[in-house]
Amino acid sequence: NAMFAWQRTAFHFQPEKNWMNDPDGPLYYMGWYHLFYQYNPDSAVWGNITWGHAVSKDLIHWLYLPLAMVPDRWFDAGGVWTGSATLLPDGRIVILYTGDTDESIQVQNLAYPANLSDPLLIEWVKYPDNPVIVPPAGINPEEFRDPTTAWMGPDGTWRILVGSKVDGSGIALIYQTSNFTAFEAQPGLLHAVNGTGMWECVDFYPVSTNSSNGLETSVVGPGVKHVLKASLDDLKKDYYAIGTYDPVSDTWTPDDPEADVGMGLQVDYGRYYASKTFFDQNTGRRILWGWINETDTDYDDLAKGWASVQTIPRVVTFDNKTGSNILEWPVEEVESLRLNSTEFDDILVEAGSAVLLDIGMATQLDISVEFEIEGSDALEALEEPEAIIECATAQNRTTLGPFGLLVLADKSLSELTPIYFHIAKSTNGSLTTLFCADETRSSKALEVFKKVYGGPVAVLDDEKFTMRLLVDHSIIESFAQGGRTVITSRIYPTEAIYGAAKLFLFNNATGVNVTASLEIWQMNSAFIRPFPLEEM
Ligand code: FRU
Repeated sequence: NAMFAWQRTAFHFQPEKNWMNDPDGPLYYMGWYHLFYQYNPDSAVWGNITWGHAVSKDLIHWLYLPLAMVPDRWFDAGGVWTGSATLLPDGRIVILYTGDTDESIQVQNLAYPANLSDPLLIEWVKYPDNPVIVPPAGINPEEFRDPTTAWMGPDGTWRILVGSKVDGSGIALIYQTSNFTAFEAQPGLLHAVNGTGMWECVDFYPVSTNSSNGLETSVVGPGVKHVLKASLDDLKKDYYAIGTYDPVSDTWTPDDPEADVGMGLQVDYGRYYASKTFFDQNTGRRILWGWINETDTDYDDLAKGWASVQTIPRVVTFDNKTGSNILEWPVEEVESLRLNSTEFDDILVEAGSAVLLDIGMATQLDISVEFEIEGSDALEALEEPEAIIECATAQNRTTLGPFGLLVLADKSLSELTPIYFHIAKSTNGSLTTLFCADETRSSKALEVFKKVYGGPVAVLDDEKFTMRLLVDHSIIESFAQGGRTVITSRIYPTEAIYGAAKLFLFNNATGVNVTASLEIWQMNSAFIRPFPLEEM
């Protein structure tokens, strides 16, 4: 089936076949980046979960290794679920993961490499006395999972978090250990938020407020804030907040209680879940992985023989211009895939028009674009407040938007995915900008879940409206304003494929013209294939 074949990505990580979900235990060791992932070796739907394993020198080209862990013990017979890695100061590596037991109880297990002198870390040993943590009293044994990377407290003992839920509140339980085999539950919680439901895949890490360097997970002190992220099981969305961690009381407080975890910022406003960061000690970056899940049917996934991809890894930094969010930006290594580029300067896009960008193939692209609104007083000239608080379809026209790009669009614009800004003046006179991805016309396939994704993005006074897009067949990763707001799209064009896929600028504002300047690179494919182990 040519359509299904075309949907396979060319430079995003995905297994050769079958089902994948969460990224697990990312780490850098002896020259290799390691990615583990929730993987069903037998089918393109979830089940029989193992840890798949791949390595890379540059986070872009990947080599598949043998499965790292499979469900072969009573303490993980129901699946080797999500977990995280910790690099210990003495050079050892520990992994903590959730095992779904033979009685469907969620426990936390310890595993470590059989041979630390193997840079590929091919063989993993499960600690024979697993589990190391069982569900405490008052916690549903089926809602207790996904241990974090450990960090060391000022008292010299390690801490980890496990996500759960109590009375509808999402919670992060905190445990202490000095040896990773004996754990002690802390009496309090790191944090809880009413009404947010089960917290999966909790992530907790420091960010520097005065530099763009990533921080090792145990760093605390002046110039450091802490990000707490939870994957909300009920909404299937990753929410985060920035706050202050008190290493003595082991509690975390959000800077803005109104924008606490699950109420404010999303890591990615698109089709994205179960993200996890790690500190890359090789380059001093904090790097974020996230799972892009499917929006078609299980039936289609079984017919394709595969499901899901991972995002291009993103560098996470604190946005010290706004002081209230993180920035996410594709690792610079992805730029090694850039081939020839085409530049366009100051293209006029009049209100109510679309402009074809003549770039040849438009299915593997890295796009940078800057928009300016024509007429400096246009924003002030807007008289009536037009409060738009949510992304609406790109056909919803108001004075100041939407304007942006039409991606993976056919010539007649019958199939297309608009990625755009929409500015609105609220009743108090202030301007709000939304960054949106309209997937409602992204595919003519019927049984695909299609909606408009997006959220607000801060555009500061001295800034233009900027976007970066990575387009890879059926995936678009869209970054606004340097990565303040990000939307990942998982789409299934049926006609806008191969040479029929085009790229346009569009402006559906009724009141303003915009100009756009772009640089667009064709992107090479990445090598993602089995490690040639027999040749070693
Ligand atoms: C998140 C999740 C985790 C769990 C894993 C099982 O997608 O549900 O909470 O550990 O997937 O595959």
